[in-house]
Amino acid sequence: MNNNIVNETIKNQLNHRSIRRFKDKAVEPKVIKTLLDVANQTSSSVAMQGYSIIRITDSDLKKEISDICMQKHVSVAPEVWIFVVDAYRNAKIAASKDVYTDYSNSMDRFFQGFSDALLSAQNVMVALESMGLGGVFLGSILNDSQKLIDLLDLPEYTFPALGLEFGYPDENPDIKPRMELELKVFENKYKREEDYGKAIEKYDDIMRDYYENREDNFRLESFSSHVVNMLSRVIEPRVKILNTIRKQGFEFALEYIPENEIKRMYKNLPKEVDEEVFDVSRLGFKSSSSVKEMFEKYPFVKDYLLMINPRFNVLKTITASSDFEKVTLELLAEMGDMPMESLIYMIESRIDEE
Ligand SMILES: Cc1cc2nc3c(=O)[nH]c(=O)nc-3n(C[C@H](O)[C@H](O)[C@H](O)COP(=O)(O)O)c2cc1C
Repeated sequence: MNNNIVNETIKNQLNHRSIRRFKDKAVEPKVIKTLLDVANQTSSSVAMQGYSIIRITDSDLKKEISDICMQKHVSVAPEVWIFVVDAYRNAKIAASKDVYTDYSNSMDRFFQGFSDALLSAQNVMVALESMGLGGVFLGSILNDSQKLIDLLDLPEYTFPALGLEFGYPDENPDIKPRMELELKVFENKYKREEDYGKAIEKYDDIMRDYYENREDNFRLESFSSHVVNMLSRVIEPRVKILNTIRKQGFEFALEYIPENEIKRMYKNLPKEVDEEVFDVSRLGFKSSSSVKEMFEKYPFVKDYLLMINPRFNVLKTITASSDFEKVTLELLAEMGDMPMESLIYMIESRIDEE
């Protein structure tokens, strides 16, 4: 077939098919626990773990969710999990330290939570398939996101990202072919096709064959006609999705934010983080530590500081002067108009990432 490297993980991944019909068999608690541990160990944007999982065990609730999805199989799937963007928990954690910021509900936070939720869901899919189970993602939970939010009693700063139903497969569909890699993998820069109709012809033929030969065939279409159908389809409540996200308290600030306004926003960063006061930090920094020595040891920290706070632009000139020897972390925090403990914490997190 080809020269791919083969191991158990890759074999399972290349064998992926969405499964929508399941045996009437419960998924064992040990399996559930394993999958939750896999979800939990997934990479997470800036380690904030800005997502949660809601496992739907109530059959009436499953039925209501299946109505939102407009997919009957959801109501009888052994397991239905909803992966939720969750910036509420971290906002509450900060509030418990008397810290309230404008950034707990920003667009950035939303997308961090969204990617965390999706990665965790995919990790679960890979794991469950490796154990002989099968499942399908449910983007259709967003057909009426407000209704789902009400059903799940989701608080502010949360939003449902993706559903996943799974169980023991009671169907064995063919693997659905994907388009040629050349159409979606590029080197260094984006490659535009001159004629997309022509470029997709080969894949269109492959998909027509696939649908013709499929056992429970109810579609007979090429990929292009599938794209046209999907792009022409509008589900009314989905159009309002951004309104619902805003209603959940996320502030997308979709209007252009002038540069000076961004600088003003930085000034409002919280100043007090009472509990975190220390003499020597985890990596051995003190208020009297030399910034020059820190930059020599961790050269990337300077770029990081320039990126996170425009006030640190002063470093561009000061690092070249002889006065730089005297700059301590305490002084640096003053330059950035931020609490020293927060500054050290952020620097250490950046060092951890390297
Ligand atoms: C983000 C996402 C959302 C999806 N939502 C649904 C859904 O709501 N209902 C459904 O039946 N399949 C859903 N799917 C499954 C896709 O239809 C499926 O992955 C695609 O047709 C390719 O088929 P395969 O997974 O069998 O290879 C979703 C997949 C993804 C990645």
